[in-house]
Amino acid sequence: MKAMQFEVDGPIEWAEVPDVSAAPGEVVVEIAATAVNRADLLQRAGGYAPPAGESEVLGLECSGTIVELGEDVTGWSVGDEVCALLAGGGYAERAGVPTTQLLPVPAGVSLAEAAALPEAVCTVWTAIRELPLPEPGDLALVHGGSGGIGTMAIQMLRARGYRVAVTASARNHALCLSLGAELAIDYRTDDFVEVVLGATDGHGATAILDVIGADYLDRNVQALAPDGTLTVIAVQGGTQAEVDLRALMRRRVTLRAMTLRARPRTGRGSKATVIEQVREHIWPLIESGEVRPVIGATMPLTDADAAHGLMGSPQAPGGKILLVR
Ligand SMILES: NC(=O)c1ccc[n+]([C@@H]2O[C@H](COP(=O)([O-])OP(=O)(O)OC[C@H]3O[C@@H](n4cnc5c(N)ncnc54)[C@H](OP(=O)(O)O)[C@@H]3O)[C@@H](O)[C@H]2O)c1
Repeated sequence: MKAMQFEVDGPIEWAEVPDVSAAPGEVVVEIAATAVNRADLLQRAGGYAPPAGESEVLGLECSGTIVELGEDVTGWSVGDEVCALLAGGGYAERAGVPTTQLLPVPAGVSLAEAAALPEAVCTVWTAIRELPLPEPGDLALVHGGSGGIGTMAIQMLRARGYRVAVTASARNHALCLSLGAELAIDYRTDDFVEVVLGATDGHGATAILDVIGADYLDRNVQALAPDGTLTVIAVQGGTQAEVDLRALMRRRVTLRAMTLRARPRTGRGSKATVIEQVREHIWPLIESGEVRPVIGATMPLTDADAAHGLMGSPQAPGGKILLVR
C-alpha cells in the first residue's frame, strides 16, 4: 500500500510502505480522508514521535470504509463507513484501527467530512467534560477559537449552555461568531482580560480553554472567575512559566492539562473510554445538527506538504484542513 512518507525537515511523498493487517480486536479501514493537525507538523519536524508500538505514519484521524476484520471483532462489519481516532497512520491508503477507536459516520455528515471530527471532538470533550453545568451568565473563554479545536470548542460549550468568548485573528471573527461565540477578541490588539472582565461585570470566565500555555498563564489566571477552571491543551506560547500561587488560591482555581495522543488504547484514562463517552454525549449533538465539523479547506492527501504550509501560514483558514484521497 502507499502512505505519505517523510524525512525530518525533508519532503513528504506518496510512497510504498508495508501493508497493514487487522490484529485481534482491530479492523482495516480503507481511508477516504484524514485531516491536518499541528501535531503532524511537529512530528514532521522531528519533535512529536508516536507512542511506542503505534504507526510512524502521520495522521491522527481518518474516515473510510472497513475492508477487513481481525479476530474477536464484534459489532462492526466489512463495508461499514466509519471515522477513527488514531495515534498515527491516517496519511495512508489503509490503517489498522482498534475497534475501541472507531465511531460511525454521524447521520448528516459526509464520509470525507467525518475525518475532521475525531481529534477535535475527543480533545474538546476531555477538556470540558468535568466542567460544572453553567449558572446563568457563565462565560467560557476559548483561546484560538478559529482553529480546528476552537471551532469545535465554541459549539460544544454553547451546547453545554455556556456563553462563549474567543481570541482569534480579526479575519476569523465572523466564523467564530457564526458558530455561537458572542465575543471575538483580536489577540493582537485587544487585552482579553479586560474584555472578559468587562463582559462579566468583573466576575471573570468560569472556564478557559487554552492553546497558548506559558505566555498566557498569568493573564488567564487574572481572567478567571472564582472557582474557575483553566484547561491547558496546547503550548503554542511556551511550556515554562511562573505563577503566583496566592492568585490561584484566592480564586480557588482548578488548573488542568491534558493530551490525547499519549492516552493508552484501553483501560483507565484511555482513548477507548473517550470514544465511548463521545459516542454517547456528542454524537447525538452532531446528528441533530447542533454541532458540526468546520472545514476551512479541502486538499488532496498527496498535497499534504502544501496543506502543512497553509496551516502554518497567516492565511490559514478557520476550522480544519481536510485531506482527501
Ligand atoms: N492536548 C491535545 O490532546 C491536543 C489535541 C489536538 C490539538 N492540540 C493542540 O491544540 C492547538 C490548537 O490545535 P488546532 O488544531 O486548533 O490548530 P489550528 O487549527 O492551527 O489553530 C491554531 C489556533 O491558534 C490561534 N492562535 C495563534 N496565536 C494565538 C494567540 N497568541 N492567542 C490566541 N490564539 C492564537 C489561531 O488563531 P488565528 O488563526 O485566528 O490567528 C488558531 O485559531 C495546537 O497547538 C494543537 O497541537 C492539542
